[in-house]
Amino acid sequence: MDSFRSKENLNQFESLFGKTKQLPRLFQAPARINIIGEHVDYLGGTVLPAAINFAVQVYIRPNNTSSYHLHSVTHNETVELKKPLLQNSKSPWSDYVAGVIVEIEKKGHTVPGFDFLVDGNIPQGSGLSSSAALEVVTGFAIQETFGLRIPKEEIALIGQRAENNFVGTKCGIMDQFIIAVGKENDCISLNTDTLKYSYHHFDLGDYEFYLINSNVKHNLKDSSYNNRRAECESALIKIQTNHPKFTHLYDVDLSDLEISNCHLTEEEGKRTKHVTSERERTKIVINGLESGNFSEVGSALFRTHWSLSKDFEVSCPETDFIVDSLENAGVIGARMIGGGFGGCVLVLDKKDHFSEIEEVLKKSYQQKFNLALDFYKFQISDGVKEIFL
Ligand code: GLA
Repeated sequence: MDSFRSKENLNQFESLFGKTKQLPRLFQAPARINIIGEHVDYLGGTVLPAAINFAVQVYIRPNNTSSYHLHSVTHNETVELKKPLLQNSKSPWSDYVAGVIVEIEKKGHTVPGFDFLVDGNIPQGSGLSSSAALEVVTGFAIQETFGLRIPKEEIALIGQRAENNFVGTKCGIMDQFIIAVGKENDCISLNTDTLKYSYHHFDLGDYEFYLINSNVKHNLKDSSYNNRRAECESALIKIQTNHPKFTHLYDVDLSDLEISNCHLTEEEGKRTKHVTSERERTKIVINGLESGNFSEVGSALFRTHWSLSKDFEVSCPETDFIVDSLENAGVIGARMIGGGFGGCVLVLDKKDHFSEIEEVLKKSYQQKFNLALDFYKFQISDGVKEIFL
């Protein structure tokens, strides 16, 4: 993120909010990828995300008032928020900030007024969690500025609650968590039931991960994301009638016959199939990354994609086309990542294959969908932190 417009943004902050002796502080939160464990983080599943070097940056300075003055460089818009904080349909980007203030105050803290400028280069609606990054950087910046001593794991939970309660997407904890605790060069395995996590470093040798942005923009708030979650919850309730020992859909370990005796709807059955088979693929991927068996990892990634597409039904023709083309071109593995309905595909392949794939796929995608594809190489980077210029 060296190319960030940090200096220009400082000038803009001072021209909008005035220059005082107290310099605003600068904080940054990354985007994220997820290697495996998709649509299981609200069902007690295990996920394997990493923070990557796209970011949201904010400048913040207390303003000794009770209002919050927010400016978005991306939207070129300034808004003033006063309590009670309510959803702002004219400037939905400010809801992520307001939601975090509300959730911090629910914990018994008071958040005094501040001036705030936000900028970012995470492609929005691309499945890389630009909203979670804004929530986490806001929570962290507030806690540092006002000395609230909230641990990073708790900042993640505050961000998730802001999204669930204020913005209205019933997302899981994965995005906010990795954005809060991420570490350069490491991914984490996170148990979303207990929130226990550990760092992993995988040596990829001649292989690399990269991203392809389908440029189909999703909006999880308006997509079927909440509906998928509701179907998983109703499936679990039905399963529990016969099998009360299961507290999470992720843990369900039943034969087809036992499942068919639970009277799930066709949709509930398909959602359950994705979630429980993802548990098996996650084990394969973690073992494969540890032992260097990348072809096993890759084929599990393809299987996850088709499970998300056919059983969980959160893909779209464009990402299906990308993954199908990659599979036919002999790439090691690929799948859509994040909430779905567009966004990015994560690819695992031999390093020397990249340019050939890029050239061919850009052409065929343009021809089929009249849409450009973007390829991103990335580095695994730190979670939220303060930046000292
Ligand atoms: C979005 C949500 C996450 C997670 C993924 C799917 O990114 O914010 O909580 O559910 O979708 O794995």
